[in-house]
Amino acid sequence: MSTPPFQPAAFPYARPRRLRTAPWVRRLVAETTLTASDLIWPVVVHDGEDDKVAVQSMPGVFRLSRKEAVNAALEARDLGIPMIALFPNIAHTPKDNIGSGATDPDGLIPEVIRAMKDAAPEVGIMTDVALDCYTDHGQDGVMEGDKIANDATIERLEEQAFIHAHAGADAVAPSDMMDGRIQAIRNALEANGYQDTMIISYAAKFASGFYGPYRDAVGSATALKGDKKTYQMDFANTEEALREVAMDISEGADAVIVKPGMPYLDIVQRVTSTFQVPTFAYQVSGEYAMMQAAIANGWLDKDRVILESLHAFKRAGAAGIISYFAPTAARMLND
Ligand code: PBG
Repeated sequence: MSTPPFQPAAFPYARPRRLRTAPWVRRLVAETTLTASDLIWPVVVHDGEDDKVAVQSMPGVFRLSRKEAVNAALEARDLGIPMIALFPNIAHTPKDNIGSGATDPDGLIPEVIRAMKDAAPEVGIMTDVALDCYTDHGQDGVMEGDKIANDATIERLEEQAFIHAHAGADAVAPSDMMDGRIQAIRNALEANGYQDTMIISYAAKFASGFYGPYRDAVGSATALKGDKKTYQMDFANTEEALREVAMDISEGADAVIVKPGMPYLDIVQRVTSTFQVPTFAYQVSGEYAMMQAAIANGWLDKDRVILESLHAFKRAGAAGIISYFAPTAARMLND
């Protein structure tokens, strides 16, 4: 005898509103939760003198000095945010085709990693592995003619990842979308004694208009000519995202990222239901800017939409969310 298929009761036996009558019962039956432990805070550091420089298109986000970056790490620790994702704004190192600054062992990022890990060792640090912040053309890779050279770029990324690991990064996060870079980076880390350094791969990263404010934040906007469509994914595709994730897992990624976030919740859900690896979603700069603009105009209620948007990622299956709202949200969630 097989069990008959479950049939939901019909009204009036079922009144779904009964489970919504009071905060305590809503809390009791909530299918997902959001806590500060789900958040990764993207922090932009710069090599200038000022402690904090406001990013015009991202109200509430600042380019931080080394000193302020350390304070951010302490703040993350106190708020219970497990990890910071570091991004550089390089203004005082010359940029070139191969992004030489990316592999300077005494560059801004290695220096900031050391200072942060020194002050707040209990906060995880992941670094952006890509060349765009260091190249004079603003592309994520090395250019040969008018092409982004895949394999030549990988060699640069291996070195960049090694330098971050050597400085103490807990995880390197390749965001460049070159083919085969996870395997190359994993091998480079293994060969140099960094077998415990995680690779959190931007496996499904789409060529998106929503990165605009970030390029302003890191100062790659003016340099960038053209787009990144020969390496970042076409927003028309889902199956391809699954292939990208499968490849990166097989090459040694410990966790994967889907990016952007809110417009790509379907991808987050497909990835998390297909693969058994932690999947993070990135609520990117343009999503943050849109929400902040509407909040500033009084068109959206700040606290409500921040928590609702972050919660949506958990519902879609994400293990965590990379968001510029991380400290604000953590403060709300901890209250
Ligand atoms: C590139 C990189 C980008 C972001 C993080 N790393 C932008 C791009 O691909 O041009 C975007 C982050 C955001 O928009 O918040 N290495």
